Amino acid sequence: MNNYFSIQDIDSLPGWVEEAIAIKKNPLSNKTLGKDKTIGLLFFNPSLRTRLSTQKAALNLGMNVMVMNFTGEGWSLEYGDGTIMDQGNSEHVKEAAQVVSQYCDILGVRAFAKLEDRDDDYSEKVLNGFINHASIPVINMESATRHPLQALTDAITITEYKKTDKPKVVLSWAPHPKALPQAVANSFVEMMQRMDADFVITHPVGFELASQITKQVPIDYNQENALKDADFVYVKNWSAYQEYGKVINDDPSWKITNKKMKLTNDAKLMHCLPVRRNVVVDDVVLDSNNSIVIEQANNRTYAAQLVLKKILEKS
Ligand code: CP
Repeated sequence: MNNYFSIQDIDSLPGWVEEAIAIKKNPLSNKTLGKDKTIGLLFFNPSLRTRLSTQKAALNLGMNVMVMNFTGEGWSLEYGDGTIMDQGNSEHVKEAAQVVSQYCDILGVRAFAKLEDRDDDYSEKVLNGFINHASIPVINMESATRHPLQALTDAITITEYKKTDKPKVVLSWAPHPKALPQAVANSFVEMMQRMDADFVITHPVGFELASQITKQVPIDYNQENALKDADFVYVKNWSAYQEYGKVINDDPSWKITNKKMKLTNDAKLMHCLPVRRNVVVDDVVLDSNNSIVIEQANNRTYAAQLVLKKILEKS
């Protein structure tokens, strides 16, 4: 594996999940694999989990870690080919990616969707700019359209907690005051299509994700119906794909409540975090024994460690 761009870079999902769970049991088992290697983590957006779990994963492998908050600290980057750079951007990704490649052995990049221009976001110009011009492996730490480290984490977490071979998993849209990207939902949908799961998406009309991602996954516009007998409820907001980046509906009745959880098969509650309490999901649900969001966040380390291990073993 040269880059970890999306979950399509996972060659054998059951094998990867099994290996991540083994790493979790003995996280220092490869503590010299990354000796004298350096990972650079570039953040164009805020982060708590991705930043710290990826650092922790690298440290568990004996790597050196350099972190840079690009926005506000780095030069403003240009991505276009042949651009006459007489406007605000000071440096082209062509130089930036090559320069970073001399300082690091692996690069992680976080660059969210701007939610202004769908084609621009879905072209993944920032992540692809680094992948195309870096001479080292690049890891997606949440790009405009994908969050594959989160999706691998989610697969590990569902595998750990499932009580049946084919659990019912419901991805439920929830209200949110701000327009959020589709990256987490997109990667989770892609992951559920690769797992053995009875998978349903529920959201209000107008919040359909890209059809090239959802493919044949059933969509139920009736949330309570979708939640019936669920083993896992993954709650997440995303902004509209068709009316791109718009909050066309913030209907509070889509919040996950205790009453709704009672429709499920004693389901586990998942969320990638950060989560807006009592907007997305009620306190009583988030604080219940059915909530596995903290353990889910813990698994971010082992997902990242597995990806780094695979890259280091190849190099
Ligand atoms: N889930 C996730 O990616 O969290 P952060 O945005 O805090 O990294």
